[in-house]
Parts: sequence; structure tokens; C-alpha cells
Amino acid sequence: MKRILCIGAGYVGGPSMVVIAEKCPHHRITVVDCNPDKIAQWRSDSLPIYEPGLDEAVKRVRDRNLFFSIDVEKGIKESEIIFVSVNTPTKNFGVGSGQAADLQYWEKTARQIVENAESPKIIVEKSTVPVKTAQAMEEILKMNQNGKKMHVISNPEFLAEGTAMNDLEHPDRVLIGSHESEEAIRARQELVDIYAHWVPRERILTSNIWSSELAKLASNAFLAQRISSINSFSALCEKTGADVTEVARAVGMDSRIGARFLAAGIGFGGSCFKKDILNLVYLCHHYGLPDVARYWEEVVRINEFQKERFVLNMIQSMFNTLSGKRICLFGFAFKANTGDTRESPAISIARRLLEENAHVVITDPKALKNARDDLAEIKGAIDFVEDPYAAACGCDAIAVMTEWEIYRNLDYEEVFSSMRKPAYLFDGRNILDHRELQEIGYSVYPIGKPPMVPL
Ligand code: NAD
Ligand code: UGA
Repeated sequence: MKRILCIGAGYVGGPSMVVIAEKCPHHRITVVDCNPDKIAQWRSDSLPIYEPGLDEAVKRVRDRNLFFSIDVEKGIKESEIIFVSVNTPTKNFGVGSGQAADLQYWEKTARQIVENAESPKIIVEKSTVPVKTAQAMEEILKMNQNGKKMHVISNPEFLAEGTAMNDLEHPDRVLIGSHESEEAIRARQELVDIYAHWVPRERILTSNIWSSELAKLASNAFLAQRISSINSFSALCEKTGADVTEVARAVGMDSRIGARFLAAGIGFGGSCFKKDILNLVYLCHHYGLPDVARYWEEVVRINEFQKERFVLNMIQSMFNTLSGKRICLFGFAFKANTGDTRESPAISIARRLLEENAHVVITDPKALKNARDDLAEIKGAIDFVEDPYAAACGCDAIAVMTEWEIYRNLDYEEVFSSMRKPAYLFDGRNILDHRELQEIGYSVYPIGKPPMVPL
């Protein structure tokens, strides 16, 4: 039996430990967090995050071999393996503000480990961190007065929200990086043995520690780059009469390119793509590579361009004024099947619409609470309505922000009859049947396709 601790009970720490607990019933896992409300929620029937399949899995393992606690110090003392899964947001003050990763939570954790460790530990970096962070962690861990051995291992997480449980149970790969000494390789092997309970051995990659840290940033950069690439083509499609879904299909059938992650939309959101690329840009400058920095910076710039383009398109097509018009946002989460709204494109789009004096009505099956928090400081007319039919009633326009399945299956004739005319539909995710909507009488504005006015 191994005693495993995870510091940070968020979107990564929670689900990843639930899966380890389920797949390794003989290990005892404790998840700690400095936020007592969050821990209370993990212990209750109302979990702090929404993920398909998570509720059921938590019920199977909680208080069997998975425990939630606020006692970080006790957790450190008792455990042999410590996953660090705290947040590493973009720094918003001082040197590197707006680009570098803010490592204050991570450093605090390292210091807590130093102060409380009474036996050797394997420390696992699960948070996404700048390359070379393990070196800084080792510097801090060296201060351990008891002379206890600490091994830092990099094991970045690749799960995506909304599919986290499936991603954790069937990962494309698990990456474990370490130093090359015999002791470090032994420590790395302990982690390999844990994952080998359910992940096929050929999918568990071991590497040098810096490659592992950098591969995480590289993976997110490549994924975000694909989205910015297809979004840049969506702009060109709208100018030329090409259809971005047809272009994406043709491009994606080249097996060297692949079909996934080529859906044009209102830009990528989520807590990581932007922050990780900005962090990469900062690192490139730090290492004297301004040309590489500029290359990756453009991925974020095109993402901003895409959101602004969407809003300008709405203004232009609605007679150059949104003042007093009711606009219903279908969805607020940054993607479907999550309640997470961090960096959701819907936030900046809602702000821009409010700046134009529009009346914004927001509906979302899981993210209304977060939406309220995100817009709490913003002035303007905003309503939050659970039922999409009620939300759209009396509106001039609907703008699809999130690709929730329910929006594909609404009765759009009924919705149309309750809206002000002309009724506009801006499909920011290209999930609806545009021809059918046009036949009903909507003015339809997809992404990367010619607009379709009523027949
Ligand atoms: P999160 O904000 O949901 O969770 C982090 C948790 O750490 C918070 O609950 C916070 O209270 C806690 N915490 C911070 N400092 C602490 C301390 N000293 N002691 C105890 N608890 C502390 O963040 P997240 O989305 O789970 O992301 C965590 C890390 O994983 C980030 O580096 C992120 O880039 C990376 N990551 C996230 C995802 C994702 O889908 N969200 C996927 C892969 C990797
Ligand atoms: C992403 C990565 O996919 C994960 O591998 C990674 O672990 C994680 O970031 C992280 O490090 O946090 P996530 O942000 O949860 O996961 O979700 P994605 O499915 O990647 O979607 C990100 C954004 O891109 C969403 O706003 C989504 O709507 C958008 N997107 C995605 C598109 O606009 N088009 C696409 O084709 C795919």
C-alpha cells in the first residue's frame, strides 16, 4: 500500500486522484486544498466541478481509499508520493506581468513540503509549469533540515475538461520525466507502476525531466495553434465564399494533418491555452529567442482577432447598432460539458455587447453561477435565464457561444415565433442546421461561411 497525497483539489487534482483511487484500490489517496469550502463540496453530494461521470466515480471511492481534507501538513507527513496540482495562472503584477506563470502557489507548496516532511518523498509536478521549474523546486527542497531525500518527477496532465474522466481512464499517453540518476529512475518507476494498473505500458512514456516539462507547453501550443489556423481561414472563407467546414474536412483527411481540432469558432477559451502560450512566449524571451516568441504570440493574437471579428460582424449585420437590442447568448462555458467559464470567449463577447449598450440574456445548463461571478463587476443590462426558450423570448438575436447538445435539438420554429423580427442567429460554433434556420425565417450568420438571409 502506498500513501499518496495530492495538493490542489481543482479540475486536475480532483478527477485525476479519483481515477487513481478507483484503479488502485490498495493505495490510500488523500486530496488536500487550502480552500475549506472546496473540500467541503468534495465531501458532499454537490461537487465543486461538473464533469460527466465524475459524481458516480466519486461515490464509488470516497471514504474507501480516497479522502478529502484541509490538513495539508498532516497529509505531507503521512505520504510517500505527493502530487502537486495547484494553479499556475498568468502573473498579473511585477516582472513578467501578463505573460510569465505566477508560481507563488506552487512555491508555497514546496515550502510546506520542506517544513513538514519527516521521511523521503517523491514529489510529482502535475501542474503545468515553465521548463526548469523542477530545478527551482529542488533548490527549495534541499533546505529540508532532516536531510530526507526528495525526488522531483514531472508528470504533466493532458486531460481536457468535459471529457476528463475518459481522458484519464484512456489516455493517449502518460508522460513521466525524471533525472537520469539511478535513484531518480527508481522514483520514476514507482509512478510508472501506479499508472501501469490501467494504462498499457507502451503508452507510458518516460523521458528526461526538462523534455517532460516542455512537452506539456508544446502540446498545448500545438493544439491552440490548430484552432488559430482554422479560425484564420474562417475569416478568409467569409471573404471568398468558401465554406470553412468543407476546407477543414479536405485538409483533415490528409493523414499527416489529421481531422481533430479543426472546428472553427469564436476562439479558444479555458484556463490553459492562453496562459501556457503566454508563458512559452515569456520563456522564449528569457532564453533570447524573440523570433520564436513572436511566432507563438501570433496564435494568441489571432484568437483575440476572432472574438472581435464575431462582435463586429454582429454589429454590422444588425444595422450598425446594438443599442437597446436584446441578444441571447446560448451557452457561457468555454466548451460543452463543463461549468467552467475561465477565459471563455463568451466573457469578452458579453462585455463587448454591453459596451454597445445591448441587453444581454445569458443561458447555460451548467455555467450560470460562474457567468454571474464573471460579469459581477460589469455595468449594463444582463439577465441570467435557465430555460433557453424563455431566454430567447423577445430577443433580436441569438449567438451560440457553447456547443452544448441541447442547442442542437431545440424547436427553432417555436423560438423564432417568440423573437423580435428580423430574427438573427449567429452560430459561433457552427452546430446548427443553417439551411433549416434560413427556411424558418432567421438571418443566419455562421462562422467561415457566407451569411444566409431569409428566402
Ligand atoms: P484549479 O484552480 O481548479 O485548482 C487548483 C487548486 O489548488 C485550487 O483549489 C487552490 O485552492 C489549490 N491551492 C493553491 N495553492 C495551494 C496550497 N498552497 N495548498 C493547498 N491547495 C492549494 O486549477 P486546475 O484547473 O486544476 O489546474 C491546476 C494545474 O493543472 C495548472 O497548472 C493547470 O495549468 C494544469 N492543468 C489544468 C488542466 C485543466 O483542464 N484544468 C488540464 C491540464 C493541466
Ligand atoms: C486543453 C487540452 O486539450 C488538454 O490536453 C490540456 O490538458 C488542457 O487544455 C490544459 O492543459 O488545461 P481544455 O482547455 O480543457 O483542454 O479543452 P479543449 O477541448 O482543448 O478546448 C479548448 C478550447 O478550444 C475550447 O474553448 C474549445 O471550444 C476550443 N476548440 C477546441 C475550438 O475552438 N475548436 C476545436 O476544434 C477544438
